[in-house]
Amino acid sequence: MTVTAAAWPSPSGNILLGVIGSPISHSKSPVMHTAGLNALGIQGAYVPLHVAQGKVGETIQAIRTLNFRGINVTLPHKLAVIEHLDRVDRAAEAIGAVNTIVNDNGILTGYNTDGIGYVRSLKSEAVSELSGKRIMIIGAGGASRGIVDALLQESPSAVIIVNRDEEKAKRLAEDWKSRGDIKGIGLDQIGRYIGGTDILINTTSVGMHPHTGDMPIDPDIIPEGIVVSDLIYNPLHTRLLLESRSRRGCTIHGGVGMFIYQGAYALEYWTGMPAPVDVMREALMNSLGV
Ligand code: ATR
Repeated sequence: MTVTAAAWPSPSGNILLGVIGSPISHSKSPVMHTAGLNALGIQGAYVPLHVAQGKVGETIQAIRTLNFRGINVTLPHKLAVIEHLDRVDRAAEAIGAVNTIVNDNGILTGYNTDGIGYVRSLKSEAVSELSGKRIMIIGAGGASRGIVDALLQESPSAVIIVNRDEEKAKRLAEDWKSRGDIKGIGLDQIGRYIGGTDILINTTSVGMHPHTGDMPIDPDIIPEGIVVSDLIYNPLHTRLLLESRSRRGCTIHGGVGMFIYQGAYALEYWTGMPAPVDVMREALMNSLGV
């Protein structure tokens, strides 16, 4: 997909960017993108914008009026925003959620950089080649949909979705069946399918702060030495990851990179320039206090 950077800077001389959501005050996107803009030598601002439920349409109109080059969209607006856009990219449409909007001279296009951001993080931090790999994904919610769409572009040999609600896993597999070998199963069947898995990915919130003692599955069933990845970044390494490494000798991959790379893609769409990923990572880690 090509995105032109023709619409910036705005007549004000600055590139105007932001993130809409509710709540928004704890968002780490402003600190990460501000560092990115500074490193690129681009004049502009990235601001947190609190948008209440039901106010998305007016906000999108304001984005056009104020000539914002783009915005990120976070909870709870990722779905609601779609009807207010001029265009929605194929992946965002399939996933059913938009997290990045690009304003090209008043034409607003919605993208989803969460899934592709996750895959870029996985490839740069844990496993460089995904082609031919057998991948198992725990969870069948919104995050899982984005990741499935992006992973199937990498030609894995098989993708298995495991979910507590088996029907949801089967529906997700059905939605993407034209794109590769994909199957949905219930969590109770995981023991039958986990053998031969190369990469195991947790997309559920199980293990997230403050329930850091919880795990979505028993690490004893994880094949030795595989890659185990978790979308959660608070804590940076979940109990599932730590026990996979200590008890099963697995390579582990936490969720912070997904956040960085979803932002990196967005910044690249808005500016047309390669994102300064290391600077963005450092700013994020500093603001997380690690
Ligand atoms: P997200 O957009 O972050 O993926 P979601 O759409 O609410 O959030 O999906 C949450 C996912 O985590 C679902 O797959 C959910 O399983 P169910 O579909 O069976 O509800 C899974 N999940 C959440 N809590 C879980 C738990 N305690 N055990 C197992 N799976 C859980």
